[in-house]
Amino acid sequence: MQGTGTLKIMSTRLLALALFVPTVYAQGPTYAKEVSRIMQAKCQLCHRDGDIAPFALNNYDDAATWAPDIQRVLTEGTMPPWKPVAGYGEFRDAYSLTDDEKQTILTWIANGTDPGDPNDMPDVLPDKGPWPLGAPDLVLQAPQAFTPPRGKDVYRCFVLPDTGFAATTYLRAIDVLPGNRQIVHHVLVYQDTTGTAAKLDGQDGDPGYSCFGGPGIPVDYSNIFGALDSLGGMAGWAPGQRTHFLPDGVGIQIKQGARIVIQVHYYPIGRTGPDQTQIGLYLAQTQTKKRLYQIPVVNMGFKLQPETIQEVTAVFPPFPLPLGAKAITIYPHMHLLGTKIKVDLTDKNDNLIAPMIYEKNWEFNWQGAYTYAEPITIPTYSKVKVTCTFDNTSNNPKNPNNPTVTVGWGERTTDEMCLAFVGVTLDVDPFTVLNQIKPVR
Ligand code: HEC
Repeated sequence: MQGTGTLKIMSTRLLALALFVPTVYAQGPTYAKEVSRIMQAKCQLCHRDGDIAPFALNNYDDAATWAPDIQRVLTEGTMPPWKPVAGYGEFRDAYSLTDDEKQTILTWIANGTDPGDPNDMPDVLPDKGPWPLGAPDLVLQAPQAFTPPRGKDVYRCFVLPDTGFAATTYLRAIDVLPGNRQIVHHVLVYQDTTGTAAKLDGQDGDPGYSCFGGPGIPVDYSNIFGALDSLGGMAGWAPGQRTHFLPDGVGIQIKQGARIVIQVHYYPIGRTGPDQTQIGLYLAQTQTKKRLYQIPVVNMGFKLQPETIQEVTAVFPPFPLPLGAKAITIYPHMHLLGTKIKVDLTDKNDNLIAPMIYEKNWEFNWQGAYTYAEPITIPTYSKVKVTCTFDNTSNNPKNPNNPTVTVGWGERTTDEMCLAFVGVTLDVDPFTVLNQIKPVR
């Protein structure tokens, strides 16, 4: 084994070199020049102190320490945890890596994590404070903090104090500030004009009430626009998601007398603590000409047979309508059996006009609402089609039923949903005229 001997001599020499000469890096990307900038843009929104990721990637030492893990998660494609597949809709603030960025980091690690020239370092990102959009006009939070019991998934709804708005009001954004980022996994914001949530509040002796799938506010399915009004959540927050102001003239409607209800999903594995999540309301600053509607594209009539993988579709509208619209946001939703969800805009003959979103590795615990980089034009007589894939076999580790059973639509953990809320404005909005929109200030 002559070769081995030569290798041994070589490695001894290399070792000797390494002991006496500063590390020599291959020509290639450096932390100061390339890697720091990619990490600022694509990692630091979560990997910074006090945010949801378990460690910060703020500086060279952080990045070099975590290099072997970074290499693994980039190769496996598990980080950054951006869900929408490229090419199916373009979203604001997307934090997936481009192939170039990924290759740059991997080369930097393979070459031995060259720190580079400190003069090449970018400025440290400014600390934006708790509210990235600036101070809200109104901040609401549940009257008392809640400490979820340690465990896996806790869903709790909280009825927030009265807004004090004397009339129906329009907002340009609703943002969410999780109280305890270590355990808050996601937050959805609803409004209740029925008084139901306030009745449920505190009944089990703790702040808020237990809720999964939705806040349990009755939905009026008797007419489609009643359903749109009562079913649509107003906003949502998921880790890594950033809220944007709506375009001028577009507002989220809060009905006169409505109470805002938030559903918080806690993930208090191994640690818990008090949480008092806040929401920030930003009033419309120009006259609201168009209301944002959350259109639920939903199929509530499916049955998933045990030990089957099944596709379920939902289409809106049920019959062609002469309503042109613009899609501004999208929020796909299934429960634990869901594996893929795809939303397409088609003409009335089912020809594709534009893909709206595709998540091919659906994770119930990593869901969010997405804002389009540019609103998508929805022509008259077109349809939005949602395709959900469910795995109701015992091979699915997330299957909550053992043995497997027939599963249909419902709000419990063990039920399913096939649904996408599309946030739209109507090109001609007959319903908003009826709501007599006035400027707020
Ligand atoms: C949207 C938030 C978010 C972004 C953006 C993000 N991460 Fe993470 N990262 C997390 C969370 C949360 C975890 C903890 C593990 C989990 O819950 O999946 C994590 C865990 C990790 C881990 C450890 C995982 C393991 O299996 O050991 C590495 C390494 C990592 N991230 C690297 C990165 C890098 C590199 C980037 C940017 C290119 C990045 N992350 C962007 C949220 C994020």
